[in-house]
Formats: sequence, structure tokens, C-alpha cells
Amino acid sequence: MTSSLTIAISKGRILDDTLPLLEKVGIVPEENPDKSRKLILGTNQPDINLIIVRATDVPTYVEYGGADVGIAGKDILLEHDSSELYEPLDLGIAKCRLMLAELVQYKTRNGRLRVATKYTRTTRKYFTEQGIQVEIIKLYGSMELAPVLGLADKIVDLVDTGNTLKANGLKATDTICEISSRLIVNKAAMKIKRDKIKQLISSLEKIV
Ligand code: ATP
Ligand code: PRP
Repeated sequence: MTSSLTIAISKGRILDDTLPLLEKVGIVPEENPDKSRKLILGTNQPDINLIIVRATDVPTYVEYGGADVGIAGKDILLEHDSSELYEPLDLGIAKCRLMLAELVQYKTRNGRLRVATKYTRTTRKYFTEQGIQVEIIKLYGSMELAPVLGLADKIVDLVDTGNTLKANGLKATDTICEISSRLIVNKAAMKIKRDKIKQLISSLEKIV
């Protein structure tokens, strides 16, 4: 099966935005990934399979060769920070910004700044570059709650419409990075399955 190609995708936004792109390049899953409980799905192309994994796990599957290529948000790739992946194409989907935010009523206080985030590595890098020492509190979701309940002074989270910040009495104060989803490729697969992968990249390139 070395000649087949496995693509890692996460359910939710990325799957929703990726299926139309795959369809445009002639790849259609045999079952609806949203309805199926299968984690490996065949497609109309006998040599192309999809695997369904958590968004944060996509780079790990691709890095270790469980999948040849994958689709992951730049936020996830910055955190994963691997030199073992190629990132040949910005698909321009699931666009948002990674932002620093605080309460609208934010008041500075003495002591080290506490920042709650799922993105600990990127947050540390951001503050280190500014020479600011911070205490980082790792959360896995609902970051917007942390300043409201006094858990943290600030948060680093994704912002699209800004509705979640607004609904929780927060405001963004800085953009750390513009985010979109990228096609990532396992380095060994890029050599061994070069023709197939190049063909996928160039057909996607034409439509994004
Ligand atoms: P998991 O449930 O596995 O922890 P997740 O909740 O981060 O993953 P999604 O919410 O589907 O999964 O987000 C997947 C990717 O979509 C993110 O990594 C990011 O790149 C992008 N994204 C997240 N939130 C938004 C948003 N509000 N608007 C646009 N893109 C977003
Ligand atoms: C993401 C992100 C923000 C929200 C921002 O959460 O973590 O909370 O979207 O979008 P907005 O600016 O348009 O309001 P998501 O909807 O993915 O929820 P989850 O992280 O709990 O899955």
C-alpha cells in the first residue's frame, strides 16, 4: 500500500471548509465523515484515503508518517513547531487571528502578568520577544472565561468575528498572528510519493 496517499483532517471547521476543496480536485469521501463513525475513510479515488483526527493531532500523525499529508491551522502548526514537516500551501480556509485580549475594564496590577491560553509555546515566544516575563496558565478551551473569573489578566486566543470576546466583556489589544489552514506533508512521503503529492499540491494550488 506504499503507493496510496493518506490525508489527515479534523472534524469541524477544517473538514467543512476542506471537503469542497477536495471535491473540486476530484476527491470525494465514500461516506459522509460527519455521520460516519469510521476514522479511515475511502474516497472515490482508490489510492486516496482520509483519516479523521483531532485538530491538534494532525501534525503529529503527519510527522510520524501515520498520514502522508494533512490540513492544519497555522495556530496548531506554530505550537507543534516541527522541522519534520513541509508546509507547501496556504489553503486560505478557517481564517482568523491569534490575538491578545483583556477585560474591557482591565486595570493593571502589581506582580507578574498572568496569561491564560491553549497556545503556550506561541504565547511564551510572543512575550519573550518583548522582554516581558509572564506566568502562563494552560487551558484547553473557553479561554474567555479566565479574565472574567480572575484566573488570568489576559488571554491569547483565536478571534474571528470578535463576538465571543464581546459577549464576555473582553477586547483584543494585539494581533499575534494571522491564521489560516495549511497543507502539510511528511518529509519522507514527499520523496517516496513525490508524483502523487506534487499532483495534489498543484491541483489544490489552482483553486485556492
Ligand atoms: P479540537 O476540538 O480537536 O480541540 P478545535 O476545537 O480547535 O479542535 P476547531 O474549532 O474546528 O477545532 O478549529 C480548527 C481550526 O480552525 C483551528 O486550529 C483554527 O486554525 C481554525 N479556527 C478556530 N476557531 C476559528 C474561528 N472562530 N474562525 C475561523 N477559524 C477558526
Ligand atoms: C473559537 C475560539 C474563540 C471563537 C472566536 O472557538 O476559541 O472562542 O472561536 O470566534 P469569534 O471571534 O467569531 O467569536 P470555537 O468556536 O472553536 O469553540 P471551541 O474552541 O470551544 O471549540
